Amino acid sequence: MDTTIIKNNLSAFNKKSDLKRGLPSWAYTSDEFFDAESKTVFTNNWVFAGFVHEFKDPGDAIPITVAGQPIILLQNMDGKINAFHNACSHRCLKLIDESCNVGAMLSCPYHSWTYNLDGDLCATPFFGGREHQPEGFNMSEHGLQAVRTAIWNDWIFINLSGEAQDFEEYAKPLINNFKDIDFQIVEPIATLDFGEIDTNWKFLMENFIEPYHVQFVHRTTTNQPLEDHYTIVDGVCVGSAIDLDDKDKVEGSLSVSSRYLTLFPNFIIGRYFPDQIGVYLNVPIDSGHTLQKRVIYTTDGNPVSDQSIEEIKKLWWDVHKEDHAICQRMQLGRLSSVSKDGGLLSPFWEDSVRAFQQMIADSVTK
Ligand SMILES: [Fe+2]
Repeated sequence: MDTTIIKNNLSAFNKKSDLKRGLPSWAYTSDEFFDAESKTVFTNNWVFAGFVHEFKDPGDAIPITVAGQPIILLQNMDGKINAFHNACSHRCLKLIDESCNVGAMLSCPYHSWTYNLDGDLCATPFFGGREHQPEGFNMSEHGLQAVRTAIWNDWIFINLSGEAQDFEEYAKPLINNFKDIDFQIVEPIATLDFGEIDTNWKFLMENFIEPYHVQFVHRTTTNQPLEDHYTIVDGVCVGSAIDLDDKDKVEGSLSVSSRYLTLFPNFIIGRYFPDQIGVYLNVPIDSGHTLQKRVIYTTDGNPVSDQSIEEIKKLWWDVHKEDHAICQRMQLGRLSSVSKDGGLLSPFWEDSVRAFQQMIADSVTK
């Protein structure tokens, strides 16, 4: 989309004023803006795409969608997870449509073009007629198209453009918050799969980034007073945090020191002292729908009882449901003509949200 049209639609957002507005409703509801985000935000940056622990064996394949494009995450014979465009080099059929183990080779169901686990093309049966290869056909030029990947602990990131900064350098402001954790002993203990939420992906990010709503939306599930929170704006890492004493701990509710951090554009990681991490995968489907999943980790290497795991799962399920209800109503509010120029942002509690939105605005207008 023409960046001039986008800039015109962002005029209220960009207006110099002490009281900042959020992104216009159009940024949450239109196919045009979603398409612009796919081509910029989700193409040029390191996008969170999946979890390493979901891969057990060579040949394990998980199809994902990034920037509206079908991608395969595939574990090779050496145990390395690579990403490829999920389209056969022959007629571009989507090769993998559900998570599976492909064995030692990945074969297209249409005409049996076959690739090894490194994406190299190995067989093109009868493509040349009586011969398998027509004259001059070079197998090595027609393998699966690789996508750049980076792995940080259990988390797989991909960069479609291939031109993003080195991941470790890009993610430094986030990684700096986890220097004291021994990731060798961090273990996933539970997964909450929420399925499809009727909201734009940015509302789920923004809701996580700001602490302002916690005392109102989560009044029965958390004990984290607003005044103990602060926001974090550190380049591509934005979020909030709270520091509490152990004496404030309330059983069955979230009442511990926490870090709510994001890595632009879509990685969410919460740290809950002393021993828990939660990571969400948010996958935008279209402007009004997002898939969400949360993986919960224990960080101290100690076993966690089944009962504790069930309690942790219940708490987070309830907290997420409270957030989903709010984010869905945020989406519905964008149908109102009064939301055309975005709402208002607290200069104190929502400066982190504003920083996230500014990165979106900068990405789509570059
Ligand atoms: Fe929340």
